[in-house]
Amino acid sequence: MLAALATAVDDADPLAGLAVRDVPVPAPPPGWARVRLRAASLNHHDLWTLRGVGVRPGQLPLVLGTDGAGVDDDGREVLVHAVVTSPGWAGEETQDPGRSLLSERHPGTLAEEVWAPARNLVPLPEGLSAVEAACLPTAWLTAYRMLFTRSGAAPGSTVLVQGAGGGVSTALVALGAAAGYRVWVTSRSPAKRERALALGAAAAFEPGARLPERVDAVMESVGEATWEHSVRSLRPGGTVVVCGATSGEA
Ligand SMILES: NC(=O)c1ccc[n+]([C@@H]2O[C@H](COP(=O)([O-])OP(=O)(O)OC[C@H]3O[C@@H](n4cnc5c(N)ncnc54)[C@H](OP(=O)(O)O)[C@@H]3O)[C@@H](O)[C@H]2O)c1
Repeated sequence: MLAALATAVDDADPLAGLAVRDVPVPAPPPGWARVRLRAASLNHHDLWTLRGVGVRPGQLPLVLGTDGAGVDDDGREVLVHAVVTSPGWAGEETQDPGRSLLSERHPGTLAEEVWAPARNLVPLPEGLSAVEAACLPTAWLTAYRMLFTRSGAAPGSTVLVQGAGGGVSTALVALGAAAGYRVWVTSRSPAKRERALALGAAAAFEPGARLPERVDAVMESVGEATWEHSVRSLRPGGTVVVCGATSGEA
């Protein structure tokens, strides 16, 4: 099958290790199901992989791609949930120390076919194309969990999203606005601030700007560059939800 691979890693020149070529179809573990992909989305994770983040010696070449949608062997249209838990793990999957994302230990979705645990195949939501659904699993599910499981916010709450141009942040803005939250964003880029407003943000600020009032919750994925502002912008008793630290740990 044709696939996009990381054949080498290079922090300074990540695309040097990217190759598109035929690879053998992987042998699936028991209980896994095949999906013939119609669409796969890029995630910054793919670039981190090509830079060598999380790649163990002897693992290359590996098939990239965490997210996708397609058709399973029963003809069902499905999206592929990217989190693979340890064999036998029965608890909350984010707590599994042995969990991985597709492409980390098993071939990913930037290919004609992917294998995933059968429980990871989710019927395509009505009204979504395969292209739209292929964007949902990792970034949008992360954003969903941050907003609706972890933040304590409710419709009408003011939620600050740091680094509005990011993949997770884009999903936070769209989902938060759809749920009736007042979403404020920061971004270094005027064009990305405009884009966030078009996606439903109520206001957009430069990084570090003094806000009109303190917010109920902050969505943090940037880390060191925005952490101090996040804490300063929060009302007493508010919540900071952290899913990563792109600019370094605070
Ligand atoms: N993508 C996922 O599916 C996913 C899932 C779970 C966790 N995470 C974690 O979430 C974090 C973000 O992931 P992502 O894929 O959304 O990343 P991304 O698309 O690369 O976006 C990162 C954003 O961070 C902001 N940023 C980066 N460096 C900055 C700096 N020095 N100063 C200020 N802002 C800076 C930028 O916002 P502006 O350009 O708008 O300022 C940028 O758009 C990562 O730590 C990742 O591990 C990601």
